[in-house]
Amino acid sequence: MNMPVKPVIAGNWKMHKTIEEARELAATIVSGYSRLGRASIILFPPFTAIREVRNTVSGSGIRVGAQNVFWEDRGAFTGEISPPQLKEAGCEFVIIGHSERRQFFHETDETVRKKTLAALRHDLIPVVCIGETLEERDRNLTLERIKAQLETGVFSLEEKDFRRVVIAYEPIWAIGTGRNANPEQAEEVHAFIRDLIASRYGKNAADCAIILYGGSVKPDNAFSLAREKDVDGFLVGGASLDAGSFLAIAGEALRAGEE
Ligand code: 13P
Repeated sequence: MNMPVKPVIAGNWKMHKTIEEARELAATIVSGYSRLGRASIILFPPFTAIREVRNTVSGSGIRVGAQNVFWEDRGAFTGEISPPQLKEAGCEFVIIGHSERRQFFHETDETVRKKTLAALRHDLIPVVCIGETLEERDRNLTLERIKAQLETGVFSLEEKDFRRVVIAYEPIWAIGTGRNANPEQAEEVHAFIRDLIASRYGKNAADCAIILYGGSVKPDNAFSLAREKDVDGFLVGGASLDAGSFLAIAGEALRAGEE
């Protein structure tokens, strides 16, 4: 599976959209995308709409992923979906360890590690989410928390596997709150992540690493966030449910890269 080129603009649709609504949204994004061909666009619909969205974006260059995966290939795991099932449905990516999964479904850095390994084993590109709570930020524990999440969740990977992972920094206090991290706050953590990657895997792996920001990204803050050196794109929630605002965010990220 080819790694996407930067900037990467990913839309996490969460538990929104029927199959028909998903098809319509994907089709509108496809029509607007031709003008933005230099950004990598990845859509993460709910499981039920993956196949429809995959068919709708086919041939456009837009790629598709899932919002979660289980670490076993098959078996008696009611309600879970395996990596081969996602591949069959047309996924190339999978989000792992989103803070909503951690908060509501008790996922941990250890389950992130297992899911990441399972995804890689099946040639799915994991988008591993990390981020601190507001309490951790207020207590000055942000960098410590980020380091622990990376060390348990991904740094046990060999370098060749790590090179196929995308990291998404999503401060939990910024998700769905309308309160985004300001560009300096985002850059501080992104640069810290890249330094940790450099110490673990070397400078080249760090330079190539894709580190996305997520948390209340909107068309009017995307440019200033994307201009930061270590912000390689976005994982967008609410604003990805509307083709106009999602494409505007992609346009702003491209404009920031051209400066
Ligand atoms: P919002 O963009 O709605 O804050 O969500 C961010 C997110 O959780 C993306 O995965």
